[in-house]
Amino acid sequence: MTNLTRRTMLGNLPAAAIGVASTVALMSTKDAEGQEPAKPAAGATLYERLGGYDAISAVVEDFADKLLADKKINQFFRGMGTDTWDTFKQKNKNLLAAATGGPAKIISRPAKTVHGGLKITQGDFNVVAGHLKVTLEKFKVPERETKEVFAIIGSLQPDIVERKTVKLSRDIDC
Ligand code: HEM
Repeated sequence: MTNLTRRTMLGNLPAAAIGVASTVALMSTKDAEGQEPAKPAAGATLYERLGGYDAISAVVEDFADKLLADKKINQFFRGMGTDTWDTFKQKNKNLLAAATGGPAKIISRPAKTVHGGLKITQGDFNVVAGHLKVTLEKFKVPERETKEVFAIIGSLQPDIVERKTVKLSRDIDC
């Protein structure tokens, strides 16, 4: 898939945020024998530097658990059964893998279509982004890769945030 195709499918992703070349280290995910995986070669994609599919999958699982546990935003995900939730996570894994230059197919709909009508505020978005940041820290993703991941996430923000106000009536305790 070309960068252009990915860009179209994702909505607003800048080409620079996709498959960016660098030589820095990857997430620390030891294998069953406790061995660190081989360091990615010079010019490795962000996908490779993050540690590939298994590392991305583990990040999305950890991040998704945080979304469900957070009372500030988990009302958005209420009513999803196990199968829907598993599909939601798989869609996010594919999105992150593809947007970072990995051999994955995007299986989600455009961000604007999916989030349209949910009335997501900037505050909601910041809470979700904050959970992703904590997850990336937990997995010891280096600063440069973290910034590149956030360039991707940030490029989706205009398609996701519908309200600039931080508070809605749902935020008020009844
Ligand atoms: C931070 C960047 C975000 C990314 C990369 C992202 C990604 C996704 C993806 C891939 C899907 C599945 C799309 C599909 O079913 O085709 C999805 C669905 C959804 N997202 Fe997001 N999302 C983000 C932010 C948010 C925020 C801030 C909220 C609310 C707090 C949110 C709430 C939802 C909900 C409720 C769904 C399910 C919608 C439905 O199936 O009707 N997302 N998101």
